[in-house]
Amino acid sequence: MNKREVNISFTEYQKSDELPDADKKLVAEAVDAASGAYAPYSGFRVGAAIMLDDGTVVRGANVENAAFPSGSCAEKTALSYMVANYGERQAVAIAITALSDGQMTEEPVPPCGNCRQMLIEEEQRGGKPIRVILAGHSATYVLESSQALMPLSFTGNNLRK
Ligand code: THU
Repeated sequence: MNKREVNISFTEYQKSDELPDADKKLVAEAVDAASGAYAPYSGFRVGAAIMLDDGTVVRGANVENAAFPSGSCAEKTALSYMVANYGERQAVAIAITALSDGQMTEEPVPPCGNCRQMLIEEEQRGGKPIRVILAGHSATYVLESSQALMPLSFTGNNLRK
């Protein structure tokens, strides 16, 4: 029997002006993207901004539906748009933020399990780590790779073995 551990590490910034400039810019894009959310049911507006390897920024927001499961998360919207329109490019970073009552949430909002799964797929497909920037008003977390969000993740490799 073996006991095994998986540790993840990330950087916490308490002041947003401590963030590297490129991250700050991507967070601003995510905040802007959140204003495009269609969230009449939750009032929770999520924005995601993906930086591609050629400097293009792809944005997404959550899109809700009266049939609740038909809605889409911001990250999923952005990732789907990116793959469909810039499929030959690689994602290098994603910033995620959320506005509740028009204000950025105090704490960073971590992506749901489904969006983590999609991020892992994109990281594997692109072959480069995707830097994940989770921005809140009183803290921002930066992970060097989306893999850290989902240890023991299910991937295409599992289908082949
Ligand atoms: N939401 C996202 O857009 N991303 C996540 O990772 C978590 C949740 C959205 C879905 C729904 O429109 C609202 O936030 C409340 O769950």
